[in-house]
Amino acid sequence: MNPDPDNNTPAAAGVVADLAPADPREHIEPNEAQRPMSLWYVTFLCLFFGWGGYYVQRYSADYGALSYDENAGFGGAKTNIVKQVDPYVLGKRLFENVCAKCHQPDGHGVAGQYPPLVGSEWALASGPARMVRIALDGLQGPITVKGAGYNNTMTPHRDALNDQQLAAILTYVRTQKEWGHNASAVAPEEVAGIRNKTKDRAALGSWTAAELLALPDHEPRP
Ligand code: HEC
Repeated sequence: MNPDPDNNTPAAAGVVADLAPADPREHIEPNEAQRPMSLWYVTFLCLFFGWGGYYVQRYSADYGALSYDENAGFGGAKTNIVKQVDPYVLGKRLFENVCAKCHQPDGHGVAGQYPPLVGSEWALASGPARMVRIALDGLQGPITVKGAGYNNTMTPHRDALNDQQLAAILTYVRTQKEWGHNASAVAPEEVAGIRNKTKDRAALGSWTAAELLALPDHEPRP
């Protein structure tokens, strides 16, 4: 069985065709089969999705608008450089997320239910002492705003907003240019001071307008 490739006689042709090896330069014939996925690939996918899950869990902050950290760096990494946050910008975003549900994005409130902040003597008082208290522990009972009476309940935000966030919201409300407001800004330290001084208030329930009017609108320095 050793065919001579040079033997081209018709009698030997069939044997040559059967036994000649396929041209070694040809690719192997494709065939259908199931092959196991590469272990490297499986390992890579596990690590990739594992890391992705960890990352989302670690940095999503429950997807809460209020827990967004203005000072977080790229990827949530903490840096020592504290970025200066414009309270007006932060305050606008928080106002729209928190206060606008009731007082409306345009600040005009809802007649008979939610008093307006635009032009409100409560919002534009010369000092923020009453407004900080309202924002911290809420307000209930009869109140007059711009000559109109309301008797409803405002929820407290003591636990939902920190000093910086509350100061930013109140600064925004007091200085909202489109509303023509030009009152003084509110510093986080002012909020912190009142928060500390009124820490037992939550147990006593929300403020009433009468209680607040008995207080000076400027916080006396301790
Ligand atoms: C759940 C609805 C609700 C939310 C949210 C809310 N308020 Fe109020 N707010 C009220 C109601 C109702 C009153 C009036 C309460 C009353 O009748 O005694 C009020 C009163 C006020 C007043 C005094 C009256 C006035 O109109 O000036 C201020 C100031 C105020 N809110 C600021 C805020 C700020 C700032 C926020 C966001 C941190 C906020 N409110 C979030 C419902 C709300």
